[in-house]
Amino acid sequence: MKIVIVGIDPNRLATLSQLLTDALQPERLIKSRETGLLGLAAVVAQELPDLVIVDQLCSNTEQVMQLAPIAAQYPGISYILLGDGMIAETLMHAMHVGVKDVLPMPYPDDRLVAAVKRIEQTRSIGTNIAARAHVSAFIPCKGGSGSTFIATNIAYAMAAEYNKRTLLVDLDWSSGDASLFIAKAPGTSTISDLAKNMSRLDTELLKASAVHILPNLDALEAPESLELGLGVRPEHLDMLLNLAGSTYDCVVFNLGRTFDPVTVRVLDRSHAIVATMQMGIPYLRAAKRVLATTTALGVDEKNTHLIVNRFKANDDIHVEDVEQALSRKVSCLIPSDYATVSGTINRGVPLISSHPRHPISQKLRVVCETHFGMEPTEKRGWFKQFAK
Ligand SMILES: Nc1ncnc2c1ncn2[C@@H]1O[C@H](COP(=O)(O)OP(=O)(O)O)[C@@H](O)[C@H]1O
Ligand SMILES: [Mg+2]
Repeated sequence: MKIVIVGIDPNRLATLSQLLTDALQPERLIKSRETGLLGLAAVVAQELPDLVIVDQLCSNTEQVMQLAPIAAQYPGISYILLGDGMIAETLMHAMHVGVKDVLPMPYPDDRLVAAVKRIEQTRSIGTNIAARAHVSAFIPCKGGSGSTFIATNIAYAMAAEYNKRTLLVDLDWSSGDASLFIAKAPGTSTISDLAKNMSRLDTELLKASAVHILPNLDALEAPESLELGLGVRPEHLDMLLNLAGSTYDCVVFNLGRTFDPVTVRVLDRSHAIVATMQMGIPYLRAAKRVLATTTALGVDEKNTHLIVNRFKANDDIHVEDVEQALSRKVSCLIPSDYATVSGTINRGVPLISSHPRHPISQKLRVVCETHFGMEPTEKRGWFKQFAK
């Protein structure tokens, strides 16, 4: 985490800097810059810190409002204001522009260190905590491949069968109905609502924006229109992933067919990418395009898994033909059962829970275990309990 302390009094800057350095280094980078409020935007643009501590520059509403354009331009940055005599109205404005803490104290003390640690804990910005969550992205090679069906059932399995705290994120602006594959009712807000409030992002806001499908499974829904989806930017994804990394064990992205800057950022941050296709020439062509794109983006081949969905052994095209045409191994064949699959989707029930022994459910567990490294838990081995 990078912290920049700004103010006009060099003595105070030195004292504050010493206080934080003693308590927080070496994990955090701490700098101080002598500037007034007018120079703050330039300092932020230059330093791009995770946290700005503003010493005695913002104590009335007018001064606080000068933070607003900076906070809007760099939504990932948190602020602590040091200063006395702030009235309630000013405090409220400070909160709205994304200020995390206001410490009314003449001299810095341990309360400042505690506030910094609190912010670090809730935001996890700039640390590598995101690496702790397993991130996977599901792409349909062509619409109707079954990618969302697979992504949603796998997210459900991760939570229900492998005991992982899981977040499903729907980034398919054209359909935007992923959570309804496994939940009965839609939520009340979407990822584009969250994007509008990124400067206030913390675990509480993230949880409040999600649909709770299981106690350990949440879903962030996609907005109903492409236009609203445009409000979600790559840096929002970074912030979301940095925070989700400390709150969830797994993050599952449901993607649409188009590659845009947000999708590219997701692919860049994914540990596993699953491309779903079906047997058939149009799917083969589409798969070629998707794999060529992931290769061009520098995604390691060993992290890209190709699933053939709705597989029938008597198809005209054989798996070997697909593998030869794509110069890739098919990593999993998922059988076709339209009546059962569409029945569960229509009811908003995950097939993996309503039909745990169905061949599709069994294949989905293979994907979880072989591609995502999930380890079966005692609960998941339910048949073992019958055998006892
Ligand atoms: N294994 C399968 N067997 C039969 N039908 C399937 C299977 N997987 C998906 N489907 C059907 O395909 C349709 C499209 O699935 P969806 O997940 O929305 O595709 P995508 O996300 O790739 O566009 C669903 O309505 C579902 O009924
Ligand atoms: Mg889909």
